[in-house]
Amino acid sequence: MSTGDDRNLDYESGTASVVDMHDSVRREKILQPSGAESLGLFPLVLCGLVLIAGGGFLFKNANGFSDSTYINSDYRPDPKPVTDDGDGEAEEVAWIDSWMKEGKKVYGNCAACHQPTGTGAPGMFPPLTGSEWVDGGTARLGAILVHGINGPMTVAGQSYNQLMPAWGTLSDKKIAQVITYVRREFGSLPEGDDGVVTTEMVAAARDMFKSQSGPFTEAQLKAIPEDKQLPGAKVDLQTGDPL
Ligand code: HEC
Repeated sequence: MSTGDDRNLDYESGTASVVDMHDSVRREKILQPSGAESLGLFPLVLCGLVLIAGGGFLFKNANGFSDSTYINSDYRPDPKPVTDDGDGEAEEVAWIDSWMKEGKKVYGNCAACHQPTGTGAPGMFPPLTGSEWVDGGTARLGAILVHGINGPMTVAGQSYNQLMPAWGTLSDKKIAQVITYVRREFGSLPEGDDGVVTTEMVAAARDMFKSQSGPFTEAQLKAIPEDKQLPGAKVDLQTGDPL
C-alpha cells in the first residue's frame, strides 16, 4: 500500500495517513530561537527549594505570620477628654468639678457687681466672701437668687442700700450651679457641708417662696431661719448621684 511518497519511506506501511495528519503540525511548529530553550528541571527544582526554605525561614522568624508582630497590643490611644453635660454621666471628670465649672460660668452674671474674687465694692455691692448670707443656710440664698433683694441691708458689718436683681429667669440648674460655686468658692462652710446645691433644691426654693412678689427686704429674709436648708438629698461628689 506504499504510496511511494518519500516522506513516508521510514515508516511501516499503513502509518502514512497518521504521518500525513501530523505533517502540517510539524511544519507550523515555531522553532525556539537559540538561547530561549526551556531551562530544564534542575533550575526549577532549585528555585522551588529556595522558595520553600525562604517561606520556612519567614514563618519561623516573622512570628508565624501573626499580626501581633506588627500590632503592639500594649498600645492604648489617648483617652478622649470627657466633658460632663450635667447629666452626671462623666466618667473621667468628677461631677463636682464640672458642676463648679458651670457655676463659675453662671457667676459671670454676678462678677460685674460682686467682683470675680467675690469681694464686692465698698458701699455699692456687698462682698460674698465673709458674708453671713453666703455662709448661712441655703434657704436664704435660694430666696435671694430667685427673687432678689431691695432696700437697706447689712453684710459683714457694712450697710448697703441697693437693688440685687432677681435671677429667677435662670434655670433651676444654673441657679443651683452658681449657688454651689459661690458657697464653695467664697463661703466658709460649716463642718460636714460640702456646699453643693442641687437642681431639686432650687426647685424646692421656688416652690417655698412662690408667694413672694418682687424682691425681698432684709426683714423678710431674716424671717427665714439662718440655718434653714433647702430640702434635697446630698449627692456623691464623684458621680452627682443622690446619696
Ligand atoms: C447689678 C449688680 C448685682 C449683680 C449683677 C448681682 N448682685 Fe448680688 N447683690 C447686689 C446688691 C446691690 C446687693 C445688696 C442688696 C441691697 O443692698 O439690698 C446684693 C446682695 C447679694 C447677696 C446677699 C449679700 C451678700 O453679699 O452676701 C448675695 C448672696 C448675692 N447678692 C449674690 C449674687 C449672685 C450669686 C449673683 C449672680 C447670679 C449676683 N448677686 C448678682 C448687686 C448685684
